[in-house]
Amino acid sequence: MRGFLLAFSVIVLLSSCKQDASNSTNGKDAEIAKKVEALLVQMTLEEKIGQMYQMNQGQKDSIKVFTAETIRKGGVGSFLNAEDIAMRNELQRIAVEESRLKIPLIFGRDIIHGFRTVFPIPLAQACSWNLDVVREGSTVAAREGRASGYEWTFAPMMDVCRNPRWGRVAEGYGEDPYLASVMAVAMVQGFQGKDMSDSNSIAACAKHYVGYGEGEDGKDYNSTWIPEAKLRNTFLPPFKAAVDAGVATIMSGFNDLNNEPASGNYHTLKEILRDEMQFKGMVVSDWASIAEMISHGYCENEREAAYKAIQGNIDMEMVSKSYIHELDTLLQESKITMSHIDNAVRRILTLKYKVGLFDHPYTDTTRRSVVLSQRHLNIAREAATQSIVMLKNENNVLPLSKDIKKLAVIGPMADDSANQIGTWAFDGRPMDSRTPLAAIKEYLGESRVIYAEGLAFPRSKDKSGISKAVLAARSAEAAVIFVGEESILSGEARCRAFLNLPGAQEELISAVAATGKPIVLVIMAGRPLIFHHSADTVSSVLYAMHGGTMAGPALSDIIFGLASPSGRLPISFPRAEGQIQIYYNHNNTGRPPQLDDEGLPIGTPLDPKGYRSRYLDIPTTPAFPFGFGLSYTTFEYSDIKLNADTIGMKDTLILTATVTNTGNTASYDVPQLYVRDLFGSITRPVKELKAFTKIMLNPGEKKEISFNITPKQLGFYNNQGNFLIEPGKFNIWFASNSADNKHKMFFVLK
Ligand code: GLC
Repeated sequence: MRGFLLAFSVIVLLSSCKQDASNSTNGKDAEIAKKVEALLVQMTLEEKIGQMYQMNQGQKDSIKVFTAETIRKGGVGSFLNAEDIAMRNELQRIAVEESRLKIPLIFGRDIIHGFRTVFPIPLAQACSWNLDVVREGSTVAAREGRASGYEWTFAPMMDVCRNPRWGRVAEGYGEDPYLASVMAVAMVQGFQGKDMSDSNSIAACAKHYVGYGEGEDGKDYNSTWIPEAKLRNTFLPPFKAAVDAGVATIMSGFNDLNNEPASGNYHTLKEILRDEMQFKGMVVSDWASIAEMISHGYCENEREAAYKAIQGNIDMEMVSKSYIHELDTLLQESKITMSHIDNAVRRILTLKYKVGLFDHPYTDTTRRSVVLSQRHLNIAREAATQSIVMLKNENNVLPLSKDIKKLAVIGPMADDSANQIGTWAFDGRPMDSRTPLAAIKEYLGESRVIYAEGLAFPRSKDKSGISKAVLAARSAEAAVIFVGEESILSGEARCRAFLNLPGAQEELISAVAATGKPIVLVIMAGRPLIFHHSADTVSSVLYAMHGGTMAGPALSDIIFGLASPSGRLPISFPRAEGQIQIYYNHNNTGRPPQLDDEGLPIGTPLDPKGYRSRYLDIPTTPAFPFGFGLSYTTFEYSDIKLNADTIGMKDTLILTATVTNTGNTASYDVPQLYVRDLFGSITRPVKELKAFTKIMLNPGEKKEISFNITPKQLGFYNNQGNFLIEPGKFNIWFASNSADNKHKMFFVLK
């Protein structure tokens, strides 16, 4: 009885404090709303429109007279990139001490994958398939960013992307809407914490709304053609997830979306984001993306651009001045109403209250000690370790023995402290980086390491250093070659038509491989590259992307077996650019390729062989599939069961399975669950990731996994934008990656 009473009281207590918590949240929101209204009624039109303008204050030089004047008259609401705290606090001082209403400024920055402690690029973090690691990394970034003068980050970027030619594939979470959704939510939670006014939190920004990653042919800022069903089934889910997770802000994109640019697209901005998703937060444009609608040919002038943006409920204009120049005229001409402006200003002021700026407008300069703390570096090291994907390990060359007599460390990325931190790492400093060379020397001792860069930098075509690299390999028991891309080759406006290893890196690899020594190839890039020729000549391949400040120790831990590789690919790796777009969750077509169908047809033109959706001159499969990654051990999946082979609309399908570590090394595994809706009122993908987990198993250890699938998770949008859950037949896989079909089962949704 006692136990029951105790349990009961705990439940009552929890529910009441949960109740209190939610009341206090609602209470807090109501309180803020009151304050916002009280402020709004005092504001002039000019002051309201001023809040809707964000200026860039990037340069380190002094604050311009014009800028100070603009702040004084309430002509600006936010800055991005005010790079040092003194400048930031001076801008704020002018606002809160010298303007009429003393409304604080909010300061934003691209804190994309870390601030001073730089984490792996988001595409690499997605390789970790570990939401805790990703969330904790964003918490570190928030702590350092807030201590450095920013209350708002323009992250997470959640643009689903199936085209590695696009430079910004580096910044997102790959090709899958489900993985991108859960990654984005983890980042939002990490950035925003429980209370955005906390000095360890910053407001997050879901970007770029919407469809930016689908630029045709992979060029940046390019046109996107996304029919309603594809928009809602592939590109919107991460934003829906972020909105439901309470993301504070959203950024509209540059792309022309079905002939209506994303920053003026009424359907996506108003009808979907505001009306359907009920997003109450603040929407900021991308850099000048409102004014750029003139260049798109969608708006004749700033007045039309301002009109279409405010109709779409974009609240703040980044850098361009359409709102500043034209909103008052639009109002006078009754093209818009004051409520358009008031609603925008309400959302801006609400955000400023929520991040605590009215109570604490200044950055506390005493908190800088959190930046680059050992604890943060350790968290970054763990993130980098879990982001490394092992793609090949012939004869178990890896892990190398710590007793190796001599190891050759070769390649232009072995000691490149700048490029290893990757794109969009404004506040990272190369001097803080721990490179692979340094980490390996620290682990083995200088005397057992022989280093030869081979090439001065990744794009170099000067092969004069290759012979020295070959000699180094010859004199050692094994060689690790670090190659990849400079960070400038990925990120915004950094798109590539060819995905090869730049420069003479392939020649370097083949020259070193010709020595016959065991070779480990490590690729540090901002995107999937095409390197299978090189991969064929080496024993082992580790894909580390750009791993951030602690990329070196993470790679050293993996290379010497202090940690087992546990990364899995968040994006399909093409065999050739000609295969793009190649992604796992594609439709089946009426003539899907048959594996026995490979190669050139040999019959007459009437020969039925070969009339399939495929190329004549390359396999239909990617070089490495979505979800793929090896580890230093092996795993066995067994006892895979469904709780039912038929479920109703109110039931939950439960898949249970046992995962056993059948090798002799402790390692994480990432069991994945995929489904296929065999027949639908519209065609459905051949596979869709619906769940995964990352579990650590010691040698011989078994763990039972269970995944719950609800009918809602089997639903989809049709071309009319209706969400449907259709009865029907489904396949379901418990798999180690998207190409693993061993454990396929079947169920019916009634
Ligand atoms: C850039 C990017 C956007 C970034 C913004 C501010 O052009 O598209 O992602 O947040 O401008 O730097």
